[in-house]
Amino acid sequence: MRIRVNTRVFGEPLGDLYGIFFEDLNHAADGGLYGELVQNRSFEFDPVDNKAYHGLTAWETVEEDGRVSARVLTGGAVSEKNPHYLALDVLEEGNNVGIQNTGYNSGIPLRAGETYFFTCYGKREQDLDRAVKVSLRGADGRIYAEQRLYFGLEWEKHGLAFEAPETDFCGRLAVTVEGRGKAYLDFVSLFPADTYKGRRGGLRRDLAEMLEQLKPRFMRFPGGCLVHDGALDEDARDAQYRWKNSVGRPEDRPARRNNWNYNQTLGLGYFEYFQLCEDIGAEPLPVLPAGYDPHHKRHAPLDKLQPFIDDALDLIEFANGGTDTFWGGKRAQLGHPEPFGLKYLGIGNEEVGAAFFERSDIIQAAVRERHPEIRLVNTAGPFASGGEFERGWENARKVKSDFVDEHYYMAPEWFVANHDRYDSYARKGPKVFLGEYASWGNTWYNALIEASYMVGMERNAGAVGLACYAPLFANADYVNWRPDLIWFDNHRVFGSANYYVQKLFMEHLGDRLLECLIEDAPGPVLLPAGQDASAGIGKSGKIAGNILLSGYESDISFSNIVFTDMESGEKQALADCISTGENRRIPLLYTESGHYMLELDAEELAGYRGLQVIFGSSGERDEFVWTLGGWQNQDNSLAQRINGRGAELCQYAFTLEKGRKYRLCLEVTGRNIKCHVDGRLYQDTDSRLPFAKALYAVAQERGDGREIILKLVNILDAVQNAELVLEGCAEGEYIVEQWQMSGFEPDAENSFEEPEKVTPAYTRRTERLLAEEPIAGAVSFGIAIPGNSVTVMKLCRRCCGD
Ligand code: AHR
Repeated sequence: MRIRVNTRVFGEPLGDLYGIFFEDLNHAADGGLYGELVQNRSFEFDPVDNKAYHGLTAWETVEEDGRVSARVLTGGAVSEKNPHYLALDVLEEGNNVGIQNTGYNSGIPLRAGETYFFTCYGKREQDLDRAVKVSLRGADGRIYAEQRLYFGLEWEKHGLAFEAPETDFCGRLAVTVEGRGKAYLDFVSLFPADTYKGRRGGLRRDLAEMLEQLKPRFMRFPGGCLVHDGALDEDARDAQYRWKNSVGRPEDRPARRNNWNYNQTLGLGYFEYFQLCEDIGAEPLPVLPAGYDPHHKRHAPLDKLQPFIDDALDLIEFANGGTDTFWGGKRAQLGHPEPFGLKYLGIGNEEVGAAFFERSDIIQAAVRERHPEIRLVNTAGPFASGGEFERGWENARKVKSDFVDEHYYMAPEWFVANHDRYDSYARKGPKVFLGEYASWGNTWYNALIEASYMVGMERNAGAVGLACYAPLFANADYVNWRPDLIWFDNHRVFGSANYYVQKLFMEHLGDRLLECLIEDAPGPVLLPAGQDASAGIGKSGKIAGNILLSGYESDISFSNIVFTDMESGEKQALADCISTGENRRIPLLYTESGHYMLELDAEELAGYRGLQVIFGSSGERDEFVWTLGGWQNQDNSLAQRINGRGAELCQYAFTLEKGRKYRLCLEVTGRNIKCHVDGRLYQDTDSRLPFAKALYAVAQERGDGREIILKLVNILDAVQNAELVLEGCAEGEYIVEQWQMSGFEPDAENSFEEPEKVTPAYTRRTERLLAEEPIAGAVSFGIAIPGNSVTVMKLCRRCCGD
């Protein structure tokens, strides 16, 4: 095999291609990147956030030789935005009587010799004239450090600095009262002094450094579903994420329901997001809601859309406006008079449907008119293809958005089968912003396959403008979604195998592509399904196997069922059946045919969602599933499960009506699948087989052309020996730096115990490159690319002093 890189033939610039996507799910912000160690600091937790929550969640009473009543009161709190506070009534004087916070995970992490800043608002009743004690302690009550405070009769902010004498990751922060009487507390906070960039009340250093080390070119924030799932009134307790709520004094930022079933303090708000972007060298890419909530199908009437339009325009002013403007002035007051240089803005997360686009078009037009310099992102929903996906793209072309935000989470095999997805995308018009993607898993195998797919993104930099893996962070004790790029608990962090692939690709992103051709490569190989070679995709390529019918959290009656084997011409009528309760999956038949049709009537009798037609099944881990009435009864989708992992092939908007009979028709022809409802064709999809190429390669140059970067991904077991030919390069000594990930078991993963099990190895050598005879002006050398490996090679002509 020969890899020919022509350093005189340039391709597209690579721009800001790789970034990160931050969403406060899995406690990524509160209990994560936001350095606050106290959970429920202003006593705002509520069942609206999570059914198990109450005002004293994460607090427990301390009653050493005494008795206390701790109650959460409403009205008269420090800030109207956080209306609750704590009343501590010491009923029986004791040694230590009060309350303590249990923090996140195993508790409040304390490190010997480190400083912690405590703040709180306090006041007392006349009857209490003695001190309030603040202590850092162990879960067993052992006091590590203690100081006294004296509250007045009105709210007053108090602050103390503690040094932890011991390390204890199960620590507690206690506030206890001396004597008898009533004290009130609000906004009780504890931060380590050692935050990222040493900012008071700032970010957890180790986590922020993990982001910095990735060298992302942009950061998408603050979500995700977090952005659009919520009430449209910004003051509602379960409001959507409205950025204005997140700036200013932390005390005045409403601690609210977060879509991921917990409470978000908004302590990590828009100012902090912009600041973080600046610190890590990433362009900010905020995403705003567009007056539409797809989770609850609610939308702002068009004559009430102005606040959403204002949010977009004001955000641009907040980020970029002069200090003489209202919002630019606010930014200056917060300590950042210089503009943040916002150039990207997303309107909507992955909403689709007419109601959404009607609204987002108006917001995009308003931004365009006032700020033609801002590059706008249109959405295309959470599926890789289908009606709503197409609608998103069409809309983007219509309103001339700069990017279309594609989202998909798929089985690794889908990424292999669709490696060339972007080869056919237009180079003119909106570019792809792959705002969320991941293969299902954090193993080396997942990371390897993602690397091969990223080569495809880079090769197509003319079509793909921006891309970020998702989600970014997971607190290991509060997981809403997996896989995730970075895992942590209250004192440890590790990057997944996928993190190290992302890091390699981000760190070594060139300025522009170079022509890179692979010659004399062995032909593609059909992959076994992931780690289990016996499972999955039949080598025949037929979508054969069992056919089943099922309700999807609904009771469904199926009737007039006819199966036609189009290969033999044989037709079979099958018995009517009903899918209910436990007995959902009803086997119909087994077929080995590669061309068949299934026709049936279906009616929902009871339930909330819909039904499924399952085919090509060799068990629940390997099958195709056509779902009508999926996700909140809003989808008509076709998915494949490969080795237990899903790949959504195609989706259309569809709501199943209870009590109505639908005529369904499924037709399978080879790898092509067609799904009709009442005679209307929805899906017409080819399920592609995962043929792996012998090698995935991309080349680029950086700087003034002195650096040639080559990315090589081999997802097969065999070593590939290749001759690397560099055209347009002179004979001489070259410094060859190499970062390589190889030699891991497919299911190898990083963990708290082995955080660097799957990481790249670095080598640096000087290579004398000789002229390649048949090609004029070229040098070459031989390389061996190990099986299952990711290699980044940087070549640099050696100059004096290098
Ligand atoms: O990344 C997790 C979730 O996946 C995001 O919140 C949402 O946009 C997508 O559906």
